[in-house]
Amino acid sequence: MTSKEYIDSNKDNFINELLDLLRIPSVSADSKFKDDVRKAAEFIKEKLVAAGTDNTEICETEGHPIVYGEKIVDPNLPTVLVYGHYDVQPADPYELWDSPPFEPVIKNDKIYARGACDDKGQMYMHIKAFETMVKTGNLACNIKFMIEGEEEVGSDNLGIFVKENKEKLAADVILISDTAMISNENPSITVGLRGLSYLQIEVTGPNRDLHSGVYGGAIGNPINVLCNMISSLIDEKGHVTIPGFYDKVAELTEAERKAMNEAPFDLEDYKSDLDIDDVRGEEGYTTLERVGIRPTLDVNGIWGGYIGEGAKTVLPSKAYAKISMRLVPNQVSEEITKLFTEHFISIAPKFVKVKVTPHHGGEPAVTPTDSIAYQAASTAFEEAWGKTPIPSRDGGSIPIVSLFKEVLGLDTVLMGFGLDSDAIHSPNEHYGLFNYVKGIETITLFHKHFAAKS
Ligand code: BES
Ligand code: MN
Ligand code: MN
Repeated sequence: MTSKEYIDSNKDNFINELLDLLRIPSVSADSKFKDDVRKAAEFIKEKLVAAGTDNTEICETEGHPIVYGEKIVDPNLPTVLVYGHYDVQPADPYELWDSPPFEPVIKNDKIYARGACDDKGQMYMHIKAFETMVKTGNLACNIKFMIEGEEEVGSDNLGIFVKENKEKLAADVILISDTAMISNENPSITVGLRGLSYLQIEVTGPNRDLHSGVYGGAIGNPINVLCNMISSLIDEKGHVTIPGFYDKVAELTEAERKAMNEAPFDLEDYKSDLDIDDVRGEEGYTTLERVGIRPTLDVNGIWGGYIGEGAKTVLPSKAYAKISMRLVPNQVSEEITKLFTEHFISIAPKFVKVKVTPHHGGEPAVTPTDSIAYQAASTAFEEAWGKTPIPSRDGGSIPIVSLFKEVLGLDTVLMGFGLDSDAIHSPNEHYGLFNYVKGIETITLFHKHFAAKS
């Protein structure tokens, strides 16, 4: 039986198993779901074993566990290390979901559930592709799986695991499906990811909440102050104003920028999809460039004071915000966090106290297009999708990719099958059944071509 025949005849099982995985609320950020995160790890382990891995284990960490499994067909063959994550983002706000986030439903040929695309659906495709290759006798490479449960909280423990297990993880290339394609008509391979600096700010004014009439006008309101401070971080041209922020940013050549902007992209569709009348970003750069090759600063959450029903006249003591900065080569997460902190404290007026607490970060990554692995991925797309995939730079982050290069010396192929419209991290996240099944086929072809070209 060919791989394609096996996939076609097992399609329903492949889908149903994913639905089972999606029923486990493995939210890594929320300790309330700790046991469920472990349940998801056990599920993955069981399915790896059933598909045919050896030395399959749940590796404990300080946080959520990592699932490992391998199939060494022949030590002389090339080895592919597949990475993915079984943890998901919190599903809040629940009321904005049309169906409950952990009760997957299939509607219009799409699976709706938290994690359907990011990354349970995309990660599980690799286990099913592996099963297909084993069952049809088509496994042409050695394969190692490392599936973690902390990607959505920064992968700190995975970083430690990788450093401590270099030999176990020895491979020729890393393969990841955790990114997006331009569209099903224009498949693409991600060749760049942004890095991340994430921090929380606390601004304190008076030592207690005050009556906004009795004290209003005489006291620095921390929410007003925080808003002023934040708005000063981006100027009218869309530039970040933190001194030194752009110092290490790698500028692309005109030719590289031209190539990047030749990718299919319709600004009108983009705007109408998001219901906005105009886009906004750094002057002098296109939307694709703003997301792909430029760093940014965004407020991810802001709160303080009274937000309950009706009105309460209060001048709050404290205001808070969460800030993310997306980074590009050759910015360094720790350095940017430091620049932000110093700058933010320096612009604080005397009448408030400011505390900045760093959260997780990650470095940007760029992957090569002239490698055997990239060529294998490209050929696999050509064969399965009938089109040469376009190399494209994504705006999201996968912190471990730069570490794979640094610690294991390995390049990554980012063979993502999601779409920007899949609503990852948002209510009603979904994943197309077409992409799921086609992706499984494409992955089997990757292994075939990678073995042949190596
Ligand atoms: N799979 C995403 C990253 C992604 C999405 C890359 C779409 C390219 C296109 C990943 O799970 C993710 O969400 N990463 C976080 C970083 C992490 C440190 C919280 C992110 O980008 O916010
Ligand atoms: Mn992901
Ligand atoms: Mn994610």
